[in-house]
Amino acid sequence: MTVPVGSPDSPFLADAAAGWSAAYVHIPFCARLCPYCDFAVVAGRQDQTDRYVSALQSEIAMEPSWRPLDAVYVGGGTPSRLTVEQLGYILEEMRSRFGFGDRPEVSLEANPEDWTSSLADGLRRSGFNRVSLGVQSFDPQVLRSLGRMHTPEQAETAVLNARRTGFRSVNLDLIFGTPGESAASWRATVDRALNLEPDHLSLYALTVERGTDLSRAVAAGAPAPDPDRQADAYEAAKELCRAAGLVQYEVSNWARPDHGCVYNLIIWAQGEYLAFGAGAHGHRDGVRRRNVRRLDAYLEKVEGGHRPEQGAETLEEWAREQERLIIGLRRAAGVVPGWGGETLLLSSWGRRLERAGVLARKGDRLTVLQPLLGDEAARAVLALQPRER
Ligand SMILES: C[S@@+](CC[C@H](N)C(=O)[O-])C[C@H]1O[C@@H](n2cnc3c(N)ncnc32)[C@H](O)[C@@H]1O
Ligand code: SF4
Repeated sequence: MTVPVGSPDSPFLADAAAGWSAAYVHIPFCARLCPYCDFAVVAGRQDQTDRYVSALQSEIAMEPSWRPLDAVYVGGGTPSRLTVEQLGYILEEMRSRFGFGDRPEVSLEANPEDWTSSLADGLRRSGFNRVSLGVQSFDPQVLRSLGRMHTPEQAETAVLNARRTGFRSVNLDLIFGTPGESAASWRATVDRALNLEPDHLSLYALTVERGTDLSRAVAAGAPAPDPDRQADAYEAAKELCRAAGLVQYEVSNWARPDHGCVYNLIIWAQGEYLAFGAGAHGHRDGVRRRNVRRLDAYLEKVEGGHRPEQGAETLEEWAREQERLIIGLRRAAGVVPGWGGETLLLSSWGRRLERAGVLARKGDRLTVLQPLLGDEAARAVLALQPRER
């Protein structure tokens, strides 16, 4: 059974997820491109969705058979730009190719402006039981700065409707630290999100990604997000979430008990997941693969009968151990120290982090106590020289 029963930060769940199986499906279509986004996305190509869904079905059929799936995550881009029928075909292909485990988690990312009662009903009937809504903010001015198409009211209606329709878990994504967002506006956003009693909340600091309109605007003199204000916003949100009974289980993620995201837990446990669609990344049999990112290149490859692979990599043992620590230390549950953790604790950088109260050994686990300084721990891990085992 893969329903994540218990507190989302439980070490048992964190470790058990390493043995679960997932699949990610990327849907690149968006109504228009948000200025901060650097995901594999396209706007104005809605006429290609049927072709894309057929290509996804072919790609799924090309994947060698595997274990039944415990989690499916349809992300984007904007999966809610597809019809219920198209999304249903994708799930059906997956179900017939790999099978689903007992009570699988089946998630979809959706934009609030696309959310209708008929979409919600259709998704439930097709087998989706978790939805992640890209709310970002409840302040109309912040939504405008982020180039979003929805209103705060549309987001609220979408969340309430998703709950009424019977989705097992409803997640809200919020972004903090948009230039022009005041501390009061951010608190009001988090309060309004918490009043909707979400099962899960993801809070991201606005990041200026290279090659985006936002990074060009910042280079031309527009205000950039202020890291100190972002740190204050993060701490304020942590307190509000704690008071509302949500449990932080990763740097950017909170959930109610029994609502940790199975797909996320698998990724953070270095577990295995298949990946389909333009720009998707997977991890199977110890090999990490990534698909071609451009929509046209993806379609051409698959329609030509080829797997749309851009590259593959097998991590050496030490690189794998470093990766285990870097992703695992982002979780509240931390990691079993193992070979890499012991090396870290013996290094001068690791000892300094332990003395400063950033890194701690709690029982049989190694954890980062101050998530805002987690990058420091990641840098310390990357700087380690492999020790003899
Ligand atoms: C790839 S988006 C897809 C979801 C959906 N299309 C949407 O925009 O709501 C997933 C989430 O990543 C976050 N995100 C994307 N780009 C970001 C950035 N540059 N900085 C911070 N968060 C970002 C947003 O919160 C978004 O909801
Ligand atoms: S943030 Fe979401 S809607 Fe905006 S471009 Fe990226 S994937 Fe599309």
